[in-house]
Amino acid sequence: MVKFLSSTAASLALPSPVLDAAPSFPMTGAAARCLILLFSALYLAPSFSSGSTSHSRKSYIVLMDKGQMPSSFSHHLHWYESAVRSSAALAATSGGDMQPRIFYSYDNAFHGFAAMLTEAEAEQLEFQPGVVTILPETVYRMHTTRSPQFLGIVPESHNGHMSAALAAHDVVVGVVDTGIWPESPSFSDRGMPPVPSRWKGACEIGRGFNISNCNRKIVGARIFYRGYEAFQGVINEMAEFKSPRDEDGHGTHTASIAAGSPVTGANFMGYGNGTARGMAPRARIAVYKVCWSGGCISSDIMAAIDRAVADGVDVLSISLGGEATSYYRDALSIGAFGAMEKGIFVACAAGNGGPDPISLTNVSPWIATVGAGTMDRDFPATVRLGNGMNFTGVSLYSGRRSLSPQRQYALVYFGDNLSRPTPKSLCLNGTLDPHAVAGKIVICDRGISMRVEKGLVVKDAGGIGMILVNTDANGEELVADCHLLPAIAIGAISGKAIKHYTESTPNSTATLTFEGTKLGIRPSPMIPAFSSRGPNFLTLEIVKPDMVAPGVNILAAWSGANSPSALPFDPRRVRFNIMSGTSMSCPHIGGIAALMKGSHPEWSPAAIKSALMTTAYVLDNTQQPLKDEANGEPSTAYSHGAGHVDPPKALDPGLIYDISPDEYFEFLCSQKLTPSQLKVFSKSANRSCKYSLAGAGNLNYPAISAVMTNIQGSTLTLRRTVTNVGPPNSTYDVNISAPKGAKVVVRPAQLQFCRQNQKRSFRVIFVTKAPQPSETFGALTWSDGTRAVRSPIVATWLLPP
Ligand SMILES: *[C@@H]1O[C@H](CO)[C@@H](O)[C@H](O)[C@H]1NC(C)=O
Ligand SMILES: *[C@@H]1O[C@H](CO)[C@@H](O)[C@H](O)[C@H]1NC(C)=O
Ligand SMILES: *[C@@H]1O[C@H](CO)[C@@H](O)[C@H](O)[C@H]1NC(C)=O
Ligand SMILES: *[C@@H]1O[C@H](CO)[C@@H](O)[C@H](O)[C@H]1NC(C)=O
Ligand SMILES: *[C@@H]1O[C@H](CO)[C@@H](O)[C@H](O)[C@H]1NC(C)=O
Ligand SMILES: *[C@@H]1O[C@H](CO)[C@@H](O)[C@H](O)[C@H]1NC(C)=O
Ligand SMILES: *[C@@H]1O[C@H](CO)[C@@H](O)[C@H](O)[C@H]1NC(C)=O
Ligand SMILES: *[C@@H]1O[C@H](CO)[C@@H](O)[C@H](O)[C@H]1NC(C)=O
Ligand SMILES: *[C@@H]1O[C@H](CO)[C@@H](O)[C@H](O)[C@H]1NC(C)=O
Repeated sequence: MVKFLSSTAASLALPSPVLDAAPSFPMTGAAARCLILLFSALYLAPSFSSGSTSHSRKSYIVLMDKGQMPSSFSHHLHWYESAVRSSAALAATSGGDMQPRIFYSYDNAFHGFAAMLTEAEAEQLEFQPGVVTILPETVYRMHTTRSPQFLGIVPESHNGHMSAALAAHDVVVGVVDTGIWPESPSFSDRGMPPVPSRWKGACEIGRGFNISNCNRKIVGARIFYRGYEAFQGVINEMAEFKSPRDEDGHGTHTASIAAGSPVTGANFMGYGNGTARGMAPRARIAVYKVCWSGGCISSDIMAAIDRAVADGVDVLSISLGGEATSYYRDALSIGAFGAMEKGIFVACAAGNGGPDPISLTNVSPWIATVGAGTMDRDFPATVRLGNGMNFTGVSLYSGRRSLSPQRQYALVYFGDNLSRPTPKSLCLNGTLDPHAVAGKIVICDRGISMRVEKGLVVKDAGGIGMILVNTDANGEELVADCHLLPAIAIGAISGKAIKHYTESTPNSTATLTFEGTKLGIRPSPMIPAFSSRGPNFLTLEIVKPDMVAPGVNILAAWSGANSPSALPFDPRRVRFNIMSGTSMSCPHIGGIAALMKGSHPEWSPAAIKSALMTTAYVLDNTQQPLKDEANGEPSTAYSHGAGHVDPPKALDPGLIYDISPDEYFEFLCSQKLTPSQLKVFSKSANRSCKYSLAGAGNLNYPAISAVMTNIQGSTLTLRRTVTNVGPPNSTYDVNISAPKGAKVVVRPAQLQFCRQNQKRSFRVIFVTKAPQPSETFGALTWSDGTRAVRSPIVATWLLPP
């Protein structure tokens, strides 16, 4: 049921269709036509035919330096066309009609276009004046009602402050995902004021989606598929909705987490019953559908971000990730930079690649990178063995076929090596012998195939129940699933005990019981094994993820066109579904950022992120350090970043670490990018490196990463500047928890403010005391007696050169 954000899926090797130059849409250079290209032309599918491979065209994203456009061109589209024509002439291919070749023009968050080019043309285009970079198309993947209460966002009626602020500013959250199921009660616009005139978005119609599907809640709905069709082939309109309607459910789920209206009595087959409410229930939703049955394509994602910026969104929530290997080749990184420059807060999922280290996606410092935490709600279920032992796990099973708690049923495990799963022990389809399974409960190892599918394989083989056991890779992380037969997910430690019992007992037996919804689970939150981990492989000096938010067993709205398990042969349909993943954490932060934007419209995206990070907590509800479910140990900044988000505190952070677009650019200047790679972010000749940062560690980030030399006595000085957004007259004192092996001194150790928005700078001096074999963790906290402004510290120890 979890949509794993890219980590499990190898990048798709998709056939690239050959595009014929079909004269279907005459272009002129007028600005109006440019808009037509972006709006209406979305409904024109390029026509394909098979052709000779030597001239086969693929889609590319071409970023342009608009500052270099010769004045002889009246419009930038003419210039783009001319560049493509010239490269076609140089590559000795036919230029053809430009319209179907240039299928997107980007002009808001960044400048450039997406086009069909042969490899030879792409090579030639690289040398055309004004061309900054050419990116091949790449595939991104999708990696959720108790969370508002758990986060301290109490119902609106009890908290006039937040909702009043939000109503005053009228915030729009853009959700870049699989579309939306507009009939869901989560998208009711009851009581919402008219859409503000500043909003430039549109409601694009198509199969299953007409103008009445937009309302005062869903204020925009657009689709982006030209890149997908160029890459993957024409969408079969009968098989999927070529409209903003959500076939999948993922986009409906994420949109309702961010800004769903309150719905009472929401539950998933009785589980999690309560009021489902988005983080910012009064905010508007703008839908940008970029994901289709075969994935989400980079040129479409960039077109969506470019359009969202022009439409006027305040926040973007993007629960997608790819295999980004650099800041300047990753569509999401480039797109988010452009949005950030326009003051738009961008939240992205950290990825579901944990607990392996270096498993993060979306690590750019201008993105809020969100990992997952558990909540204090659980769906417990118990395995009782024939020997009387009980083991607690979780389940969302709700079928009629149930096992008697009084009886015992035969229990089998088909692994032949307790320390290594086999195809049979994993219950892969086609491995189970019905004679051996009929009437029994089967133990299945987690991994390889989808969890609900394993249960179905057991059911189809005649089994009556399943115990889904974590391997060491998942540790004690428990993700509840809506199984099609009685089934319970069990952690690795209990799993080993159950397997040991089965192996050592001739006629082993068990029964399964389901206990419904339990609240007040302690300890919580914890960090689930799947949440991606640092360090940040692009830049050690920037700690990632930034923070964690609820991402396990989240109840939110669902598509009426997909089953809750997302398995094609599952006939069930639900209004609400329970999902897990950093895909669910990301819109929590997107929605909370919308609340903050409503309260503090003048805050920059970096200021909002700083407030979220410096007020995040690192103790669970038993006052112990947050735990990592993968190993039961305290989690670190590599798994929880600054900690777990605390929205009420984030609204009053006291101090913020602000970062301007120019400072982010200076950060890039510290990253050994070539001048042409830097141009991806400099936009025009105006922005050039000033080398004002003495190293990436000096970016004014709310988290501190000290990359230390592993020699006793060596020192490192980092600089930070805080802005007072609390009471004008304030005094803050520092409190340091030094990472092991380092001595840390802060100068000055006291900061005094006498007005709002006053800035004060300080230095953090690290001295290597005792070299460490691996990274160590600490924190720096400024406190005025009321507010604590906490930054995590990570010390990384490099061998001397
Ligand atoms: C450079 O900056 C100025 C003012 O900041 C602006 O008016 C001008 O358009 C910019 N030049 C380019 C090439 O973008
Ligand atoms: C829009 O679709 C709904 C059903 O989804 C239908 O009831 C309604 O009449 C349609 N409205 C228009 C203007 O076509
Ligand atoms: C959910 O809770 C509401 C209100 O407490 C109650 O009326 C309703 O019957 C419950 N639904 C389920 C399925 O438990
Ligand atoms: C297991 O649970 C059952 C039912 O709650 C209880 O009777 C039994 O004593 C428990 N067994 C152990 C070993 O705690
Ligand atoms: C079981 O798997 C472990 C780890 O892969 C391996 O070292 C061991 O030799 C295997 N034992 C058997 C009996 O296959
Ligand atoms: C298992 O494979 C068979 C044959 O390919 C297929 O019909 C069936 O749907 C599969 N079952 C599951 C649970 O995937
Ligand atoms: C196990 O079950 C088999 C078949 O039902 C039976 O013949 C055998 O006596 C049982 N063994 C034990 C130890 O109960
Ligand atoms: C802040 O302190 C200054 C001098 O200490 C004083 O003049 C001023 O009135 C104070 N402002 C506020 C808002 O308390
Ligand atoms: C500094 O932090 C430590 C640990 O969090 C705490 O025990 C101590 O009281 C704090 N010191 C001050 C002066 O706040």
